[in-house]
Amino acid sequence: VRLTAVTKKSIQDRERTMDSKHQQLFTRYQHTRKLSRDIVEPLQPEDLVIQSMPDASPIKWHLAHTSWFFETFLLKPFLTGYRPFQSQFEYLFNSYYNHVGPQYLRKNRGLISRPTVTEVQEYRQYVDDNIATLLTRPLSEATLNLLELGINHEQQHQELMLTDIKHAFSFNPLFPALADHQPQPQPIAALNWQEYAGGEQMIGYRGTGFHFDNEGPAHPVLLPPFKLATRLITNGELQDFVDDGGYKNPLLWLSDGWAWLQGNAIAQPLYWQQMEGQWHHYTLSGLRPLLQHEPACHLSYYEADAYAQWCGKRLPTECEWEVAAQQQPLDNSGLHLGRLHPHCGTDPASAQATLQQLYGSCWQWTQSAYSPYPGFKPATGAVGEYNGKFMCNQQVLKGSSCVTPQGHSRASYRNFFPAHAQWQFTGIRMADDV
Ligand code: AVJ
Ligand code: FE
Repeated sequence: VRLTAVTKKSIQDRERTMDSKHQQLFTRYQHTRKLSRDIVEPLQPEDLVIQSMPDASPIKWHLAHTSWFFETFLLKPFLTGYRPFQSQFEYLFNSYYNHVGPQYLRKNRGLISRPTVTEVQEYRQYVDDNIATLLTRPLSEATLNLLELGINHEQQHQELMLTDIKHAFSFNPLFPALADHQPQPQPIAALNWQEYAGGEQMIGYRGTGFHFDNEGPAHPVLLPPFKLATRLITNGELQDFVDDGGYKNPLLWLSDGWAWLQGNAIAQPLYWQQMEGQWHHYTLSGLRPLLQHEPACHLSYYEADAYAQWCGKRLPTECEWEVAAQQQPLDNSGLHLGRLHPHCGTDPASAQATLQQLYGSCWQWTQSAYSPYPGFKPATGAVGEYNGKFMCNQQVLKGSSCVTPQGHSRASYRNFFPAHAQWQFTGIRMADDV
């Protein structure tokens, strides 16, 4: 589906009247909006409406909801005279903001054939047009911060679009491909361990740029000495666990994890299947033989923990991960639409670094519960519901993945999912005591 940008010449005229700060923000806004269009380019309208499970959403819904966010939190409150595109969208594309109002039932998002893809594209253009107008006016720091939040929100949904379409496609015996990425087998780097002294360390966001509210306040933590694996666990290593009966041995599993395995009849990692005696897995470039050297992905916390148990190791805490990551350059190369699959690290900065694949390959499960940092207060108003209300029954994931947009990674970033979630690009970095 080719979604086009709003073509009004007057957008450029308005851009010229913006002050340079607004102009820069608008440029980043437009880049982010374009990436969403680029993601859906190789998809067909039929692909955009299906929903494979309650946790995933149709791509069309993501395209509309990200626009709804700008409309709800910027245009309605701050653009005088703004007329909503369609009054019922307030309900239909509200994800979970009770402060805004009731929401259409999440698990039924795949039943919504109207508005059509074309109408959602018009909605997107309408919102873009009005954001341009908004930025010609004087705006408070708080309003600009909300626009920044909206940009980062759309980036989060870009990752979700790719993981959700992968999940939907995986049910299709034609194994549709979004990219054409055919990596070759490679030698496997040794799994080394890097030691850290621990002690009193600071974690949490301390810079002056954008960050989500859940990354703060920065605060000291006291860590015993620890060590971290220098790279992620590979497919080959995970296959050894599978071949060794890892999925059949209750001694390796958390109680909830074992119940989850039994209840869902899970006997191998998500997207894996045997064909002619060989393991294959579904990727966004189609069904492929498993490559031994690639970082293993799509693991639940339960699987990551069981694997670490099998090795006699453990998963890191979020503090350990962050303290180690602070000592390394940030590899923010991010999403490549031609790849869409975990890789071993190509960025020169990351190749020099002690720890490989901190960013841009797979999110790394930590054993830390997603809870508020000391002194955490959610933002006031409706966007206070953004992160804080999910601080129960989820695990923190650190780093970023091969489908995280460029510029979206930080050492202090706290992603979070429930322990059973498998459909994100989630992998394993092991830790151990010293
Ligand atoms: C941080 C990825 C768990 O999936 O709901 C999207 C991101 N927040 N819209 C999620 C998010 C609001 C969030 N995760
Ligand atoms: Fe959202």
